[in-house]
Amino acid sequence: MTDLEQTLAGLTVPVVGAPMAGAAGGALAAAITAGGGLGLIGVGNVATVEQVRTEGAIAAATGHRIGFGLMCWSLPQNPELLDAALEFDPVVVSLSFGDPRPYLAKVRDTGAAVIAQVGTRAEALDALEAGVDGLVVRGSEGGGHGRGVVSTLPLLQQVLDLTDKPVLVGGGVATARGLAAVLAAGASAGWVGTPFAACAESLFRPELKEAVIAADTDQTVYTRAFDIAQRFDWPQIYGGRALANEFSDEWAERTDALEEAVTDEMTATIKQARVDADLSMAPVYAGESAGLVDRARTAAQVLEDFTPFREHLRAAQRWLD
Ligand SMILES: Cc1cc2nc3c(=O)[nH]c(=O)nc-3n(C[C@H](O)[C@H](O)[C@H](O)COP(=O)(O)O)c2cc1C
Repeated sequence: MTDLEQTLAGLTVPVVGAPMAGAAGGALAAAITAGGGLGLIGVGNVATVEQVRTEGAIAAATGHRIGFGLMCWSLPQNPELLDAALEFDPVVVSLSFGDPRPYLAKVRDTGAAVIAQVGTRAEALDALEAGVDGLVVRGSEGGGHGRGVVSTLPLLQQVLDLTDKPVLVGGGVATARGLAAVLAAGASAGWVGTPFAACAESLFRPELKEAVIAADTDQTVYTRAFDIAQRFDWPQIYGGRALANEFSDEWAERTDALEEAVTDEMTATIKQARVDADLSMAPVYAGESAGLVDRARTAAQVLEDFTPFREHLRAAQRWLD
């Protein structure tokens, strides 16, 4: 067994808490590990070394092992973010949204396993060729940034046929039924974002958590509009799934026009809307599974609510008789 296989086999609940910039800090990551899963701290494109150290220290103080998730496309602008994360001896490091090759050896030298989120079959093949220890299939239903082209189940079926390495799966895995489905297909664990973003230990402001809880499965939108408006230079292939709001209603379908229309004032307005939690303008990153989150919970309760997955797997065994 590889270290990653051993780590995943040791989980009480086969759920990995997705790294979520602005939501998954040290408290959430540690709470997920404490509850029997494995939590990852999200390090975004505007993160600072100080923030990484602060969140890492919060998790370290609990004594629970955690991982980190970083964004390859933005790491060249701030490579110290990875060094700061590695100071905390993570079990696993997710290197997503770009080429992980430049960072693989450095992470491996610390003993951490490397995983990468993939959104297409071609991305999966590329990550395997790069030599990652495991893959995260991330379907277009998922919250936050990622590819918006293939949904979770078709991608999972394709990728499971490509490799014997552990495959985690995210994008809409939010209940015991969803977890049972992907485990029965052959996934090693769920990769869960949105339900944890709305939980008590998340860094999301209370208004954002309430909005995720209130939203239904059909109230999200996949778009680059929020990034264009904030002048974030995300590679064009990555949009983000967020709760639909007035801003996305106006611009999500017209991103070419938005590239032309964006002004310093608009950028400032969106950034201020985030500070003020003005949800008509600010992005609230969440996936379709927002519709499966219907009450305020702690991370431990989210994990507990996943545990009937075993009953669903048992029920499916009737097909073996
Ligand atoms: C609020 C939020 C922030 C996210 N930030 C990151 C991030 O910083 N790094 C990353 O690799 N993925 C990020 N993601 C994507 C998650 O890793 C994951 O793919 C997704 O949440 C899984 O789908 P789900 O939201 O349906 O559970 C984010 C997702 C959300 C909801």
